[in-house]
Amino acid sequence: MNSYSALANIYDTFSHNDCDYESWSQYLFDIAKMGKVTSVVDIACGTGKMTQLLAKQGFRVVGVDNSPQMLAVAGQKCRAVFVQQDMKKLALPSRVDMAVCVNDGVNYLKSNQLQGFFCQVLQNLKTGASFVFDVSSPYKLQQILGNNVFYDDREDVTLLWTNKLSPTHVDFSITIFQKQGDVYVRSDEQHTQYIHTPQSIVDALVQSGFCDIVQTADYGKQISPTSQRLTFWCKKA
Ligand SMILES: C[S@@+](CC[C@H](N)C(=O)[O-])C[C@H]1O[C@@H](n2cnc3c(N)ncnc32)[C@H](O)[C@@H]1O
Repeated sequence: MNSYSALANIYDTFSHNDCDYESWSQYLFDIAKMGKVTSVVDIACGTGKMTQLLAKQGFRVVGVDNSPQMLAVAGQKCRAVFVQQDMKKLALPSRVDMAVCVNDGVNYLKSNQLQGFFCQVLQNLKTGASFVFDVSSPYKLQQILGNNVFYDDREDVTLLWTNKLSPTHVDFSITIFQKQGDVYVRSDEQHTQYIHTPQSIVDALVQSGFCDIVQTADYGKQISPTSQRLTFWCKKA
C-alpha cells in the first residue's frame, strides 16, 4: 500500500507530542510579518495541520501533497486550496510570498533530489520570499528511530511501527489494525525517510540560489547535538 494512504485517517490521532504546531506557527508568523506576506504554499501539507493555522491567520494558502487520502482529510479542515502534486515538480499557478514544508517533508527526498526540489521551490517564489522547512535530524533518524520498534495500542486502533536503519535512510514498516464493526482490519504501509546532514542541505540550498540561511532547532530554538528537528529559513535572492 502507498505511504500515507491507510495512515491518513488516523494521522491526526497519532501525531506525536514533539509536533508543536502552535509554537512552530508563531515562528512562521514572525517571519511572515517581516516580509509582508499574504500568500503561502504549504508543501507536503499532509492532513493540513499547519495549513489550517496559516489560513486562520489570514494568509491565502495553497496546500500541496501527493497523497489524495491526506488531502481529503485536509480539505475538511479549512478553506485553503489543496493540490495533489509531487513536490519535486511543484508548479503553482502564480508565485507566492512564502513557502513552508513542516514535519519531515524534506526527509522524503533522496539526497540527489534535494537540489532539484529547492530549485523548484525557488521558481514558485517571488523575489525576497522566505522558504522555511524542517528535517528530522541525523541524530533522530539514527539514534532515536534507528532499528527500533514502536507501538501505540488504543481502543479502536493499534499502530505498529518497525524501523530498519541503513546508512542513508530509515525504512518504516507501519501496520495498522483498525476496528470496523466487530472486526479489526489490517493495513500495511512502507515509508522511507532519508538522512540529510545540515551541511548537505545548506550546500543544496546555496547551489539552488537561496541565500541568508538561518539554522535553528525546532523552529527558533538553539541547536544542540541531540536536537531532533532542524529548521532552515532561507530567502530567494
Ligand atoms: C510526516 S507527513 C507531514 C504532513 C504535514 N506537513 C504535517 O505537518 O502534518 C509528510 C507528508 O509528506 C508528503 N509527501 C511525501 N513525499 C511527497 C512528495 N514527493 N510530494 C508531495 N508530498 C509528499 C506525504 O504524503 C505526507 O503527507
